Amino acid sequence: MEGPKGKGGGHVHRLKLLHLFFSSLFLNVLFSSYLFLSHRPYLDWSRAAAAEAELVAAIFCSGHGRAYLDGILVDGVPTCECNTCYAGANCSQLLPDCPADADSGDPLFLEPYWQHHAGSSAVVFSGWHRMSYRTTGDNFISLELEKHIRLLHEAVGNAVTDGRFIIFGSGSTQLLNALVYALSPENASTPASVVASAPYYALYKMQTEVFDGREYEWKGITSKWVNTSVSSMENFIEFVTSPNNPDGRLRQSVLGGPFIIYDHAYYWPHYTAIPAPADEDVMIFTDSKLSGHASSRFGWAVIKDERVYQKATEYMGVNTMGVSRDTQLRVLKLIKVMLAEMRGEGGIFEFGYETIAERWSKLSKAISSSHRFSLQQLSPQYCTYFKKIRDPSPAYAWLKCEMEEDVDCSAVLSEAGIISRTGTVFEAGSRYTRLSLIKTQDDFDLLLQRMEALVSKEDIASF
Ligand SMILES: Cc1ncc(COP(=O)(O)O)c(C=O)c1O
Repeated sequence: MEGPKGKGGGHVHRLKLLHLFFSSLFLNVLFSSYLFLSHRPYLDWSRAAAAEAELVAAIFCSGHGRAYLDGILVDGVPTCECNTCYAGANCSQLLPDCPADADSGDPLFLEPYWQHHAGSSAVVFSGWHRMSYRTTGDNFISLELEKHIRLLHEAVGNAVTDGRFIIFGSGSTQLLNALVYALSPENASTPASVVASAPYYALYKMQTEVFDGREYEWKGITSKWVNTSVSSMENFIEFVTSPNNPDGRLRQSVLGGPFIIYDHAYYWPHYTAIPAPADEDVMIFTDSKLSGHASSRFGWAVIKDERVYQKATEYMGVNTMGVSRDTQLRVLKLIKVMLAEMRGEGGIFEFGYETIAERWSKLSKAISSSHRFSLQQLSPQYCTYFKKIRDPSPAYAWLKCEMEEDVDCSAVLSEAGIISRTGTVFEAGSRYTRLSLIKTQDDFDLLLQRMEALVSKEDIASF
């Protein structure tokens, strides 16, 4: 709140500013004299690397791309890597007739957030840093990172971690199979049946089939097995994705057996209301959808049972000897920033939620007048993180083609210049297709433009 701005108020304000100015000047002089008198260089070995990083970050790519330290060099300088449908040396050229790409779940909607937090999220380390296989904790994990993951869950209120074990994976992708392995019964006469409810994330099936072994096999959708006897439930491993990819719904187990893997990749306030902390026996999370750093390949699982934890740890040890220590350092820094900024103006969940809620609202509005297309129904819901009822903000739009002749919805969109992910990938049928809402703003703007054009054609046809 601002105070009264009378004559006296203005004088006090000026005095405060002068006080601030002289305090800051005094501190600067003190710090510089300390460095000078103690003969310490301000920065030593990190100076050249910091300068290089800043130089590359400052390369102008018209807001439609960015240059990276390890980008392809032209004349010794990294080139701009442009967003889809943009080209040219500085990405200023919009390619005509380029299809809007809404296919992948690449979480680049969070890139602007980290561009605003470039300083606080930067990590500097030299060539000798942590070269060993070992790190601070057993099983190749950083204890500081583990501690911060627990702090984050507690601060967000999306999972119970007290008294639970935590393991790390190279992306949650690596943990999916580690946990199927860990939950599979040993020495059983028949392999465990791995199932999920349609529409489901395709990797569960793909991984289980690729790694198919003596202990487990893919057995399709849960609805086929609902009448299975309670005693046979011991032999099922059910994947439950909540919120679900592709339709954003909060889900529960269908079979209710003892072995359930809850994939909570999207159980963060960007994407869903948080009704209560998740408290299941086996829960998976990923930094890819939390901070948006899919590149770092970092996920973790929160596990109640020690035997399951030991088996999953054994799998990780044999498979990769833990997650890259460089990645663990980077993720630690990112979590520290998220914790420090939480609930304030620089909060990642506030930024993430507002960005996707706006995209969802615009897309829903564009489709609301259509008779040809419909979207999944999601309602506003109370969120314990925001402490209020909030609008939906799903990571994906799950689009259905309603007309009898539009049997292949993805093909219908493709003809209109939109790349989507067909429903058959999620075992839901080709009348459905998925549109990603978490890619760059350029991707979303083009998607919206194309969708609006497609719906407006219906209006013209109906005249
Ligand atoms: C439901 C779900 N689980 C797991 C993953 C894998 O994420 P990552 O391996 O990047 O951690 C994804 C990625 O899109 C996902 O949608």
